Amino acid sequence: MNTAPTPGPSGPGPPLWLLLELTYRCPLHCVFCYNPTEFARTGAELPTEDWLRVLREARALGAVQLGLSGGEPMVLNVVLHRLNIDHVGEILDMAERLGAQYVELANTQYYGWAWLNRQQLLPSRAQLARAEAATQRFRERVAGRIQVYFVVPDYFERRPKACMGGLGSVFLGIAPDGIAMPCHAARMLPGLDLPNVRSADIRTIWYDSPAFNRFRGEAWMKEPCRSCPERTHDFGGCRCQAYLLTGDATNTDPVCDLSPHHQLVTDAVARAERDAALAARAEHVLVFRDHRISIKAP
Ligand code: SF4
Ligand code: FES
Repeated sequence: MNTAPTPGPSGPGPPLWLLLELTYRCPLHCVFCYNPTEFARTGAELPTEDWLRVLREARALGAVQLGLSGGEPMVLNVVLHRLNIDHVGEILDMAERLGAQYVELANTQYYGWAWLNRQQLLPSRAQLARAEAATQRFRERVAGRIQVYFVVPDYFERRPKACMGGLGSVFLGIAPDGIAMPCHAARMLPGLDLPNVRSADIRTIWYDSPAFNRFRGEAWMKEPCRSCPERTHDFGGCRCQAYLLTGDATNTDPVCDLSPHHQLVTDAVARAERDAALAARAEHVLVFRDHRISIKAP
C-alpha cells in the first residue's frame, strides 16, 4: 500500500497520470473500441464542478500528465487490425498529405468491443511483418519530418507489457459517471469495488480504497511471477488480459511464455493465421459498438 504524503504543496507524485473519460457518447461504432461493452448502463455523467474538483485534487496529490478522452486528435492515431493492416502504406501517405507530425499505428488491444471481435481482428504474423516493413520504408523516406510509432499487438510478444506501470502506481482514470479506475478497462475485473469521485476525494481513492490497493506491490502475485526476476519490470503484465483469457486476474498475463496459460495466446494467433488466409469468415460476425447491443451486454 502506498503511504499518503502529508497534505500541502508538493511536486510531482502519484498518480502522475490522470485520464478523464469525459463521456462515453460517440457517434461512431468502432469494433475495436476499448469502452466497456455495458457502457449504455453506466450512470449519469459527472457535472463540470465535479470534474474541476477532481482536477484540483489530483494536481494537489502530484498528477502532472492529463489526458481528456474524446475530442479532436492532436496527433493521428490509427487503430490497426486484420481488416486494415494491409493498407498501412496508404494510411501513412494520407497522414503525410494531411500534414501530421506524429502518427501512431496502434494495433488493437483486445478489451471491450475488441475482445468480442478478436476472432475477426487479430492479424496474421505475415500481415504484421508486411506492415512493419512498410512503416520502416516510410520512416526512412520522411526522416526528421514525421515521427511514426508502431505498437505491436501483445499477442505476438513473448513477454507482456508493463500495463499501466503496475496497477495503482501512476495511473488514475475517471469514467464519465465518476467511477475511478486504476486502468481504463478495470470495470470488467470482478470483485473490484471501484470508488466514485462523487462520494470520495482523490486522496482517499488513491491511497485508501481497496480497489487501488488490490494489485499494488507483489503480494497478490502467483507463480511464476512471484519468484520471477522480471516482475519488477513488467509487474506480471496486464490484469485485465489475465482475467479475460484465464478468468482470474491474479494469474500471470498469458502473453508471457512462462505462463502456464500461454497456449491460449498461441492458439489465438494460430487461429488468426488460418482465418486471415481464408479472409473474413461468415461465422465470425463483427459486433459494432452500439447503444442497443450495449444495453443487452452481460
Ligand atoms: Fe513477467 Fe510474470 Fe512472465 Fe516473469 S513470469 S516475465 S514477472 S509475466
Ligand atoms: Fe487493465 Fe492492463 S488493461 S491492467
